[in-house]
Amino acid sequence: RFQRRVRACRYDIDQFTPNFLSIFDSLVPSEEEIAKQNQLVIALSRLINKEWPNSKLYLYGSCANSFGFSNSDIDLCLSIDDKEMSKVDIILKLADILQAGNLQNIQALTRARVPIVKLMDPDTGLSCDICVNNLLAVVNTKLLRDYAQIDQRLRQLAFIVKHWAKSRRVNETYQGTLSSYSYVIMCIHLLQLRRILPCLQEMEATCYVTVDDNHYAYFDQVDKLSNYGAHNNETLSSLLWAFFHYWAYQHDYTQDVISIRTGKIISKHMKDWTRRVGNDRHLICIEDPFETSHDLGRVVDKFSIKILREEFERAANILQYDPNPSVKLFEPY
Ligand code: GTP
Ligand code: MG
Repeated sequence: RFQRRVRACRYDIDQFTPNFLSIFDSLVPSEEEIAKQNQLVIALSRLINKEWPNSKLYLYGSCANSFGFSNSDIDLCLSIDDKEMSKVDIILKLADILQAGNLQNIQALTRARVPIVKLMDPDTGLSCDICVNNLLAVVNTKLLRDYAQIDQRLRQLAFIVKHWAKSRRVNETYQGTLSSYSYVIMCIHLLQLRRILPCLQEMEATCYVTVDDNHYAYFDQVDKLSNYGAHNNETLSSLLWAFFHYWAYQHDYTQDVISIRTGKIISKHMKDWTRRVGNDRHLICIEDPFETSHDLGRVVDKFSIKILREEFERAANILQYDPNPSVKLFEPY
């Protein structure tokens, strides 16, 4: 029965690709919007540099990793080497600097897991979150952007998966579901297994970074890899089907960890992720490519894993049987 289902799907799934591609196009930010974001970053950098000449403001997250939707918030990271001040002091002073610079809705969230300052720019209407010295996020942002340049299907797939996750409300880490960052990593992993993407961290390194005394290296000359996935001609809808089918029916939640660092599936046992430790439950295991002791699925609990798996199954079944999957998939939860 399984074989028949697979064949039935393979037969005509590709006809839906144009619909999914037009949804992708509608989500991509315009050139104009990207220019506005960049101008705001320049203006904020100037303002902050007046007070802290040696600091540097980095764009990270979806506005910089190429997986950002139109109208998404801007994630910024202030890199500053000031031994005198604690992170909280820096956040509070940053809030004062922004206030004096006429930015609006300023909030210093000093007690969050990652302390940030929130602000809104009245000229552009754009909202930003600024964190301090979280440089690993800047590095993983570059890794995601580098992967996106190798094969355009990654960006298309991840946009549709993120859009599905936001529509179905399974992109809310505070509710125990997965971050956008996790979904992009799940997409990279799928394309690595299908040899559409290589494993950049297993190749000879061309890019080296040190963050908090830890060294990271990977191959980043991605312009040399633009034909890497050309032997595989699967289209967007077929990859979407494969994504949901994998997470609904194939992934072994009791044994497996997905790892884009190795381009493989590794065992929970090997990582000692087989039981709950503190608040980390490891019910779905997604290894962070740089902080390898970090399971991006740790936020998922025994209630939200059920919701997630039901949503994966729902999506897989829609792609399998629904005559108009590009509508049903995104029906608001
Ligand atoms: P949207 O805002 O939903 O469009 O996506 P986003 O790409 O901004 O995603 P998200 O809010 O999940 O994360 C923002 C950035 O923070 C990511 O691109 C990563 O660089 C970083 N990040 C998020 N979660 C983690 C995490 O658990 N570990 C690490 N190391 N970095 C993370
Ligand atoms: Mg973001």
